[in-house]
Amino acid sequence: MKRKFGRDGLSSGVPGASQFLEDESTKIFVRKVADHYSARSNQTLEEREASPIIHLKKLNNWIKSVSIQLYTHQGDSVLDPTCGKIVGDLIKWDKAKVGYYVGIDIAEGSFKL
Ligand SMILES: C[S@@+](CC[C@H](N)C(=O)[O-])C[C@H]1O[C@@H](n2cnc3c(N)ncnc32)[C@H](O)[C@@H]1O
Repeated sequence: MKRKFGRDGLSSGVPGASQFLEDESTKIFVRKVADHYSARSNQTLEEREASPIIHLKKLNNWIKSVSIQLYTHQGDSVLDPTCGKIVGDLIKWDKAKVGYYVGIDIAEGSFKL
């Protein structure tokens, strides 16, 4: 099988993959997403409870908890892309007794504990 190499020297089976990553409009879009999430401040418990979508947030949180408990096994290694502000979710991963956790996020401040 022939391998294609992008300008960064990495192998890529996807034609035009390196072009996609270097595309200017993609960079602008990704920057906008990062800025949006970076600008979000940590809410107090009272502010969170006052949110008009608090019930949706609680449902989402419950689904995450149940999914982690159902599909994670003790000692698993976890890669959590787009982990967000991980403080709340770290408790869920800890309860599931994962062995190793790596969270990735483009927003600044996602990892402040
Ligand atoms: C809706 S939040 C979800 C956060 C977390 N997974 C949760 O369940 O609470 C989406 C997160 O994805 C991150 N994100 C969006 N695009 C990303 C990318 N290309 N690479 C890494 N993180 C990204 C944002 O910064 C944001 O923190």
